[in-house]
Amino acid sequence: MFDDPHSPAWTPLLEAAWTARDCAHAPYSHFQVGAALLTTTGQVFGGCNVENAAYPVTLCAERGALSAAVAAGLRPGGLVAAAVVTDVAELTPPCGACRQALIEFAQELPVLLANRHSRKLHRLEELLPCSFTGGHFR
Ligand code: THU
Repeated sequence: MFDDPHSPAWTPLLEAAWTARDCAHAPYSHFQVGAALLTTTGQVFGGCNVENAAYPVTLCAERGALSAAVAAGLRPGGLVAAAVVTDVAELTPPCGACRQALIEFAQELPVLLANRHSRKLHRLEELLPCSFTGGHFR
């Protein structure tokens, strides 16, 4: 299902990501990003990037979606799939900080990158190999 980038199972995630992207606050980069996360409870959480005049305060779309999911009860192991959408030709992968934030909740996660014309499926463990997790200091 989520191992096929063209599966209809992605539709709710993509719709949520595009909807969230419309709300992006990106007056500095003018680069609007939408993300969505599906959880094992069947819920889909959207997020968009929220920029700030103090640039480092900017929040990425993926971490916005993650924050919404955690606030609704997401715990480690509870993520099923993620989608990231932008409107540029080159598909946008999650930044390093977002990969690290996501891997706290899912060691294995299909991550679909999409624009209006194309899709590419990755897996989080491929995007962030040899990751640092809580298991390294417990
Ligand atoms: N951005 C995201 O929202 N997610 C990413 O994974 C990459 C970058 C946003 C942050 C900033 O608002 C804009 O894209 C340009 O870096």
